[in-house]
Parts: sequence; structure tokens; C-alpha cells
Amino acid sequence: MLEIKKIESGYDKLQILFGVNMKLDPNEIVVLIGPNGAGKSTVLKSVFNLANIYKGKIIYKNKDITRIPTHELIELGISFVPQGRQVFNTLTVKENLEMGAFLINEKDLVEKKINEVVEHFPDLKKKMNEFASNLSGGQQQMLAIARALMQDPQLLLLDEPSLGLSPKVMKDIFQKIVDINREGAAILIVEQNAKQAVKIADRIYVLEDGKIAMHGDKKILKHEKIKHIYLGGH
Ligand SMILES: Nc1ncnc2c1ncn2[C@@H]1O[C@H](COP(=O)(O)OP(=O)(O)OP(=O)(O)O)[C@@H](O)[C@H]1O
Ligand SMILES: [Mg+2]
Repeated sequence: MLEIKKIESGYDKLQILFGVNMKLDPNEIVVLIGPNGAGKSTVLKSVFNLANIYKGKIIYKNKDITRIPTHELIELGISFVPQGRQVFNTLTVKENLEMGAFLINEKDLVEKKINEVVEHFPDLKKKMNEFASNLSGGQQQMLAIARALMQDPQLLLLDEPSLGLSPKVMKDIFQKIVDINREGAAILIVEQNAKQAVKIADRIYVLEDGKIAMHGDKKILKHEKIKHIYLGGH
């Protein structure tokens, strides 16, 4: 589904990633963990062509998508939910969802898609005409994910969906992510909250200083270093 091959990337002359290799199969949930500033967000931004790639390749469904424009990536079925609940505060929930529907030309179809997407998010369904700024943190994160779903992604890139949320809301978000995955989307999640995220992961990568330090299935969690650094020693 997605193959990140020896990616070296960064921002202008500031190199952040040094030869990152990752793989994601169809229907998989892959979680990328690592300390602050390791370059986790930069991995997602490299896939989505929001960082400068100096070397390496990104392959999606056997097609080289390295450096192709972001709107074309969306057309190919890749959606990105950036870090930090990026919603349009001065727009309503419904308007936010409409913003996610720019691939759909017909108004009726947009309406239909919105109804379809909010079926997954009962809280949003009740607040369609509310300004996004009036939503709770968890609801804003749900809205950011719902907006990405308007594009019918086959590959969903999520950057720290649980950031700053209470344990209960976090659990809801992770459950939602599992539901979206079961409906057919492959998901690549960046998470600080390794403990929760790894529960839903098929595979895990650990990024340190712009390099993959470790990867594997849940068994890598038994590794002492991971336990102590990322899972609080439990
Ligand atoms: N647009 C940008 N321009 C310049 N430098 C950037 C930009 N975005 C990120 N950086 C730098 O790249 C490095 C890696 O940042 P990145 O956001 O990828 O880390 P991260 O692992 O996601 O961290 P966090 O856990 O804090 O979100 C940091 O030193 C950061 O300051
Ligand atoms: Mg980040």
C-alpha cells in the first residue's frame, strides 16, 4: 500500500530524516512512536509533500508519488489529519465537512457524503450548525478526522490524534480509528501516547533522531528500552 524508501527530507537546508524506511500493507494500522522532535510529523509531511524530500522514494499502490502535489495525493486516496486539531474555528461543523468535500462537484452528493460520514460521529451529528470553536477538544479531533473521511481515503495519515485528550475521549478516538480501518482504510498513526496506540497497532516503528531505531510487531514492546522510554516502565 505504502512504502517509504530511504527517505531523506527536511525543511529547506535543515535535514530532519536520514534514510527512513517504512512499509504499510493494505488494511493495516501502523503506529510510529518516538520522542519529541524525532521527526515523526516530518515523516507524514514527507508522504503528503509538505516537507522537502532530498533523496529516496515514496511508493503508493506501486506508483511513485514522491513530490507529487498534495491535491493529487488526495485524489489518489490519501488523507492527512495534521497535529493539533486543525479545524476551521469560524466555520460550523457542517461547513468544516464541506471544506473536506472539494473533490465532489455536486451539491447533493456533498450532502449525502456528509450524512454518511456523521453517522460515525453522533456527537457531531447533534452539532452540525455549531461553530467548530465551540466544540470540546475531543469533538474537534473527531471533526478533523471526519473532514478527512469526506475524501474517502484508502490511506489515512493521522498525526497525534489523542494529543491533549482525556483518557476516555482518547479511547473513543482510538475505537473510531479501528472502525475506520475495518471499513477498509490503511492507517498510519503518529503517537506520543504509545501505550494506547500500540494496542490497536498491527506493526510499530520507533523513530529517533530522524532514523528508524526499531520496528516490528507488538513483541518489540517487550524490549526493555521501549518499555522504559515509551510505555512508562509497565
Ligand atoms: N516547517 C518547519 N520548518 C523548519 N523546521 C521544522 C518545521 N517543522 C518541523 N521542523 C523541525 O523539524 C524537527 C522535527 O520536527 P517534527 O515535527 O517532525 O517532530 P515530531 O517527532 O513530530 O515532534 P513532536 O512529538 O513534538 O510532534 C524539529 O526540530 C522541528 O523544529
Ligand atoms: Mg509531531
